[in-house]
Amino acid sequence: MNIAGIPTPALLIDVAAMERNIATMARFFAEGSCRLRPHFKAHKTPEIARRQLAAGSCTGLTCATISEAEIAAAFCNDILIANEVIGADKCARVAALPGTVTVAVDSEEGLRQIAAVAAGVGVLIDINVGQGRCGVAPGAEALALARRAASTEGVRLRGVMGYEGHLQPIPDRAERERKACAAMNDLVATARLLRDAGLPCEIVSGGGTGTFDISGRVPGVTEIQAGSYVLMDTDYARLNLPFEPAFSVLGTVVSRPGAGYCVADCGHKATTKDHGLPSVKGIPGASVTMLNDEHAVIALPPGSAVKIGDRIELWPSHTDPTVNLHDVFYAVENGQVVGVWPIAARGYKNR
Ligand SMILES: Cc1ncc(COP(=O)(O)O)c(C=O)c1O
Repeated sequence: MNIAGIPTPALLIDVAAMERNIATMARFFAEGSCRLRPHFKAHKTPEIARRQLAAGSCTGLTCATISEAEIAAAFCNDILIANEVIGADKCARVAALPGTVTVAVDSEEGLRQIAAVAAGVGVLIDINVGQGRCGVAPGAEALALARRAASTEGVRLRGVMGYEGHLQPIPDRAERERKACAAMNDLVATARLLRDAGLPCEIVSGGGTGTFDISGRVPGVTEIQAGSYVLMDTDYARLNLPFEPAFSVLGTVVSRPGAGYCVADCGHKATTKDHGLPSVKGIPGASVTMLNDEHAVIALPPGSAVKIGDRIELWPSHTDPTVNLHDVFYAVENGQVVGVWPIAARGYKNR
């Protein structure tokens, strides 16, 4: 099949660009003591995760949900669910996962629930390093929960995690660096508190695509949870990271109502706009001006020859939620479709 045969809207992956992104990240983490734990939530696609693991420098995979972990467990034996797991049914599903499984906890109640399944699940104390999402405060509060975890039967304390998500998009490199180092130093200092108290703390986990080479070089951080780097969206592209856009949304021009614009069949049910409108690939001067449910309105440069039936590609502005809208990636090499990769963990079918 070539691209012309793909029903639209569809998600394309440029296999060569993706492989270069994977290799760049693996090379970075081949040096130093910190390793990569790629975040599966960015693509939810076993075919991509297998390639990330095969490239080396990885400790395992990060997942956001239990259904992601259930799918990843088929090919990865060390999974971190970097999220709080609440509810007896969900804790039981975690307990049933094969291999080494670790979850984040930030409350005594969460600890009690995961311990109740008595499966020796690993736990990381989730620390709020400034994002203001989940997590206990660094220092004494984290130490108190860690002590409780260490003395709770049914779980195994393994360390700490802290995601500096609020710092990932900072455009100024020096500012991002300064703030990420401060956040990770809080995390590392808390890890030291745990060890000084005689508690186990083998894992110090954090980081993302915007801070991989900052947080990943802070002494004491043992692994980085970056995900988006493998596909790259236009939001991250602003940061001049060493990764290239590797995925796009393919649409068909369905209307050409005026000289200056066209309309394609890839609206925000095919490419999200929470991080802004997508960009147009391969047509200099073209830009998306409006994204409705099923329509992308695209301003075209003067004299554009774009016509009804043409294919058009958009670079998404936000990787994870865009991928989550699709069932498969069409894997493209040299203009040919070389595979159709199921986005096996998409959606909330089984949560
Ligand atoms: C807990 C956690 N870790 C790491 C990441 C990093 O992901 P990315 O590299 O896509 O920014 C995220 C993204 O939201 C996250 O929620």
